[in-house]
Amino acid sequence: MHVVIIGGGVIGLVTAWRAAQRGLRTTVVDPAPGGGAAQVAAGMLAAVSELHYGEETLLSLNLASAQRYPAFAAELTEASGQEVGYRACGTLAVALDADDRAHLRELHALQRRCGLDSQWLSGRECRRLEPMLAPGVRGGLRVDGDHQADPRRLATALLTACERAGVVFRHGWAQRLSVVRDRATGVVLADGSELAADQVVLAAGSDSGRLDGVPAEVLPPVRPVKGQVLRLRIPRASAPFLSRTVRAVVRGGHVYLVPRASGELVVGATSEELGWDTTVTAGGVYELLRDAHELVPGITELPLVETRAGLRPGSPDNAPLLGPTALPGLQVATGHYRNGILLAPVTGDALAQSLTTGELPEEARPFTARRFSDALQEQPA
Ligand code: GLY
Repeated sequence: MHVVIIGGGVIGLVTAWRAAQRGLRTTVVDPAPGGGAAQVAAGMLAAVSELHYGEETLLSLNLASAQRYPAFAAELTEASGQEVGYRACGTLAVALDADDRAHLRELHALQRRCGLDSQWLSGRECRRLEPMLAPGVRGGLRVDGDHQADPRRLATALLTACERAGVVFRHGWAQRLSVVRDRATGVVLADGSELAADQVVLAAGSDSGRLDGVPAEVLPPVRPVKGQVLRLRIPRASAPFLSRTVRAVVRGGHVYLVPRASGELVVGATSEELGWDTTVTAGGVYELLRDAHELVPGITELPLVETRAGLRPGSPDNAPLLGPTALPGLQVATGHYRNGILLAPVTGDALAQSLTTGELPEEARPFTARRFSDALQEQPA
């Protein structure tokens, strides 16, 4: 069976790697494989600290994927000969004022109701853990199970693992899905060439919602949600800066600082509904620096080495769309929104199973791509 995967970001690559491991002939179509949102993402594996009301079903998928990360990272490192920056560092979510503290208390109560492990700390206890925190920190939540991976390293390692597993790369844009007699039969590229496929997987991140040829009722309802991110560098000679991910809600906006073993410090992220715009704005950089500075005043001493904006693939319920669609021959792996790096292991496993058996594994069934097209058909005319 020949599988063509549209999109060579982390989700397309992990799908390709797992498909090739199962013996499927696999081609990835992407003008620049390994690019996309992975080049911007911070790589927090934040199943517990990014829990939201009403997302308990997504929580179980996030937790399943987080649990798989150590083995996934080890297997990928073995397959590619490259580290993926998996760091079991934990996370500290802190509050700077009474409103932030009330928000964190609510989050803590929700975490406890969901049986999750987190610990409430006083401001002093937070600063004992992370001495660079501002003296005004009013309390926080210690989440020892939320770790990090380095998305850029992950993408590079997946590229190598795919090549070693025999995945073929076609460098170009997928222009149109070919559909013959109500079945997806391949992909037409921007240069006019056509790739025939037994199964096509649409894994094009925020672009997944606008591929020509996909019937309207099957097109994934995915939209771009812009995130601006900064990269700073912690000089090797300086004392340990942060030992874990530190995050907060400041005036309603999320800010997080993710320290890598390499000395990189990622500060993110804005969340903006601005369509396909990926401009880095003075306002975005200002807000991130202002909020990060309130949390950790010492960041203003660090070199600012990169500013970048990327697009999260948002879905109507913030959860991914996985597996077979209502169009035979077309599967999807998209809509991962804020959790693409976290959900890579579970997505690869789910798509490998759905490509080989036609069925998603039990844990991924609530995320069937059909949940939105079925809802459309159920609406009165
Ligand atoms: N999960 C972090 C973000 O999407 O900004």
